[in-house]
Amino acid sequence: MITINKILISAVHTVLFLLLLLLSPSRGQQVAAEAGPGIDARVDSLLDRMTLEEKIGQLTLFTSDLTTTGPTMRDDYRKLINEGRTGAIFNAYGADYTRKLQKMAVENSRLGIPLLFGYDVIHGFRTIFPIPLAEAASWDPDLARRSAQTAAREAAAAGLHWTFAPMVDVSRDPRWGRIAESAGEDPYLNVRFAEERVRGFQGEDLENPETILATAKHFAAYGAAEGGRDYNTVNMSNQRLWEVYLPPFKAALDAGVGTFMTAFNEYNGVPATGSQYLFNTILRDAWNFEGFVVTDYTSIPEMIAHGAAAGETAAVEMAMNANVDMDMQSGLYLKELPRLVEEGRISEEQVDRSVRRILRLKYELGLFQDPYRYSDADREDKELLSARNRELARKVARESVVLLKNENNLLPLSRDISELAVIGPLADNQQELLGSWSAAGDADDNVTVLEGIRQKLGGETAIHYRRGSDITGTSADQFDEAVQAAEQAEVAIVVLGEEALMSGEAASRATLDLPGVQQELLEQIHATGTPVVFVMMNGRPLTITWADQHIPAILETWFLGTEGGHAIADILFGDDNPSGKLPVTFPRAVGQVPYYYNHKNTGRPMTDQKYTSKYIDVENSPLYPFGYGLSYTSFDYGGLQLSRQTMRPDDSLHIRVEVENTGKREGEEVVQLYIRDLSASVTRPIKEMRAFQKIKLQPGQEKTVSFTLTGEDFSFYNQELKKVVEPGRFKIFVGTNARDVLETELLIQ
Ligand code: GLC
Repeated sequence: MITINKILISAVHTVLFLLLLLLSPSRGQQVAAEAGPGIDARVDSLLDRMTLEEKIGQLTLFTSDLTTTGPTMRDDYRKLINEGRTGAIFNAYGADYTRKLQKMAVENSRLGIPLLFGYDVIHGFRTIFPIPLAEAASWDPDLARRSAQTAAREAAAAGLHWTFAPMVDVSRDPRWGRIAESAGEDPYLNVRFAEERVRGFQGEDLENPETILATAKHFAAYGAAEGGRDYNTVNMSNQRLWEVYLPPFKAALDAGVGTFMTAFNEYNGVPATGSQYLFNTILRDAWNFEGFVVTDYTSIPEMIAHGAAAGETAAVEMAMNANVDMDMQSGLYLKELPRLVEEGRISEEQVDRSVRRILRLKYELGLFQDPYRYSDADREDKELLSARNRELARKVARESVVLLKNENNLLPLSRDISELAVIGPLADNQQELLGSWSAAGDADDNVTVLEGIRQKLGGETAIHYRRGSDITGTSADQFDEAVQAAEQAEVAIVVLGEEALMSGEAASRATLDLPGVQQELLEQIHATGTPVVFVMMNGRPLTITWADQHIPAILETWFLGTEGGHAIADILFGDDNPSGKLPVTFPRAVGQVPYYYNHKNTGRPMTDQKYTSKYIDVENSPLYPFGYGLSYTSFDYGGLQLSRQTMRPDDSLHIRVEVENTGKREGEEVVQLYIRDLSASVTRPIKEMRAFQKIKLQPGQEKTVSFTLTGEDFSFYNQELKKVVEPGRFKIFVGTNARDVLETELLIQ
């Protein structure tokens, strides 16, 4: 009997052992399990096990080498992953590829700490949405949240945990190529889009495998580069920094953003990546940010070129002392930190502090529980480029289009048109629709303007497509055939603009004209006498002053992404009524730049008198003002009323205005509210947007639109950088853009 018992007992042990083996977690999970309850306790327990080298590995981010055959990983990076000496990889995506890299980290390194996979998912992952500047033209932050949410779902399905977005740099200079990635010139509009994009990417719970970590970038004031020249010097008063450039970052932080990214530029003589003022005084001390800060690409060693660090060791010391946690791509934390710690110039506590911030977010993403939870090939197949995602992309694209001109209601065009010319280098161009920072977008997925028109019209209309010219270059060889096509058509749709990569990073322009010979092409098509619809594709405001004077209809379509052609055709033929509004001022000439609506009045505000602030060789007004955009219907504003003519700082002010759709079709209108503080201890802009509402009105419908402002809305940063409300006279403006407004007065006591 004993024998049988022994056999039974050993069998039970064997089964139990096998079960344990089967269920035994990966090393990363083991670490998590051993650490006990609570993320902080687990982080501390893991930290106690880590060598200094392994800790510094968590502060190190390297790129995968994206090639045409798909992502690859340099052998030296593979070695670092196996040794646990790099904690994050960017530019690696795809369920299979990320799973492979993750397996290396989890199974080969001593502690099996999972990798974090990051990527620039800026306006979509595989389904590409309009560039951020275009999305801002929708003035629909909730739609931007949905767009970011979709991008996160696709990116997460492809193994990514982290996006280097949203870019929240206020951009007042259209020469700067990265204006394309922004929400434009106004701090308040940037605030609204920053918070919603963070919510879209991160959702309510980072542990949800359809959400990813977001990044507020580039901290700070990168958009104020002198001359609009990328990476150039930034120098301004701290008062302007706090008033104009910081609010969107604070909004992103208040929305829960997990990471910040340093800016390439210096701020007032110190490179951002080593700036104690930006990253200690403001981000950590004043704002109590608890996430981690990643540098921009090799911005640590760039502090040597800036002339702020004598060498690599000093640059690393500066960055660590500025609380910058993760080194993107330079490898200098790996190289220099061990010695700095050994010499006591950087304490191990400083290293631990940064490691904690990173490990905590890896736990929050659930990577220790299941390092492979994002690398799911089935989910990837189902999610990428799904019909639902394309449908949303088409909706966002439609909402992003701005109607700049529509003389004699040339638009919308009739579907019964018999002869139509479609002309221009961007009319049948899939590639440029992607815009800059197009992640895993594939141009072959894109619907061109020509394709969108063809599908819209079916076979009834004779469509004559001619390229007419290149986007850049000087050849006019294709003009004649384009002119002939226009001569035989009832309408000529001319699609012109920039190449996608003429905006975005390292793409500053000294002029804002149409590149190449496109202007000449437009003039020749106009000269045929055939009515022209000018469809623009661009990543920044352009000085289309001649077109504004001669062309009857102009549509600003930016770079609309995968569904761009369908969205443009929807609008051209009236299936959708354009509702976009400009998030940036369009100048008449590049010499007016920087040119933004919320400028100061100066002591000699512009009038027709000689000795006032103006140019003598250009009309001193914007070509199109901030907030401008037409519709296929029309709106009338009236009855602006305040609930009180005087208020105290702790009162609320209710503002009402009547808006009527005076046209013949349904339309959406963005009702904008601005204030002006007529006199204060710091001079105030002539207008500052404080609220807006996008409303839909049926033909003939009138709606009372109400806003409520509090004392906070009238506050500003004084010379001591205190947020104050000062008594005095104010103006309240409500209207359809920053120029065309109703106004009334308010006294704050
Ligand atoms: C780039 C950009 C930054 C981007 C990073 C990673 O240089 O400045 O916005 O997130 O490198 O690609």
